[in-house]
Amino acid sequence: MAYLFILLSLQLGKILIMPISSKSAKKQKTAKLEVVKAPKTKPYNDIDLNNWKLYENIKTGTWWEFSAREKKNGHSYDYHGNYIPQIATQLLERYTKKGDIVLDLFFGSGTTGIEAKNLERRCIGVELKQEMVDYVSEKFTPKELVVDVNIIQGDSASAETKEKIKARLDIMGKKEAQLLILHPPYDDIIKFSDKKEDLSNCATTEEFYDLFKKVAKNGYDLLEQNRFAALIIGDKYANSRYISLGFECQRRMEELGFVTKAVIVKNITGNEKAKGKTANLWRYRALSGGFNIFEHEYIMIFQKTKLKKVKK
Ligand SMILES: C[S@@+](CC[C@H](N)C(=O)[O-])C[C@H]1O[C@@H](n2cnc3c(N)ncnc32)[C@H](O)[C@@H]1O
Repeated sequence: MAYLFILLSLQLGKILIMPISSKSAKKQKTAKLEVVKAPKTKPYNDIDLNNWKLYENIKTGTWWEFSAREKKNGHSYDYHGNYIPQIATQLLERYTKKGDIVLDLFFGSGTTGIEAKNLERRCIGVELKQEMVDYVSEKFTPKELVVDVNIIQGDSASAETKEKIKARLDIMGKKEAQLLILHPPYDDIIKFSDKKEDLSNCATTEEFYDLFKKVAKNGYDLLEQNRFAALIIGDKYANSRYISLGFECQRRMEELGFVTKAVIVKNITGNEKAKGKTANLWRYRALSGGFNIFEHEYIMIFQKTKLKKVKK
């Protein structure tokens, strides 16, 4: 009888204190009160800190390794240069709430959009290549393309694209995005097109940094205050020297006002298609050239926030 009474009370949205005297009945009351304890969350995600031990899947370290690329739930390895979906999963769960909008300014094959949909987030993706926009649009239903995943063909560095993003945000009921994802070309390592606006098609690496900074500036302006940005980038080796694209881009992010929160090293061995076949050739070249073969890339986390004054 006591069970039934508490059940009915909970269904009515109330906890009723009952005149129960036995020890077992007291235990019942305590257990029910725990069920209705309000979740403790931050303004930028849905992680319930009262139950933080349950989130074992969420990575909090600076070394990320995934056994294999996720190929289910709408994902496929259909674009040379796309990132593994687990990166999007980690970023979205850690830095967004359900319904939030993630802005991806190098949308490529739409990995971020697919994962946003899977996790009940929304997405605006910008991609320079029209053929990729057409191809990726096929991955979503017409309704999803309006409500959940908005895709824009354009140059993410331009003022015109920035205005288009603002208009889409407006339609989606927000003034700004809640997470920014930047996965630019790693300079000219993979050439994506012949377009002059393409970051993989710059005449010099300095020009690449300048274009990257313009895109990141648009992202900064379109991101809500106190929210996060993620930069996924690898370094390169050219003209017999190591070129630190990652740290140079990190510096540009900081110049724009972003605060670095984490620099994560991600193991890329096994996630790449091409290297396997030419592994021996690369090993020979490394031995003869005095350099080491890349086995990592970076996932850098930033926040758009005011820096607290540091004691001197
Ligand atoms: C490394 S890929 C991103 C891959 C993506 N994260 C995915 O999982 O498919 C970089 C993409 O940026 C695009 N891109 C290059 N310059 C651009 C620009 N100025 N504006 C928008 N997109 C650009 C390229 O065409 C390419 O598809």
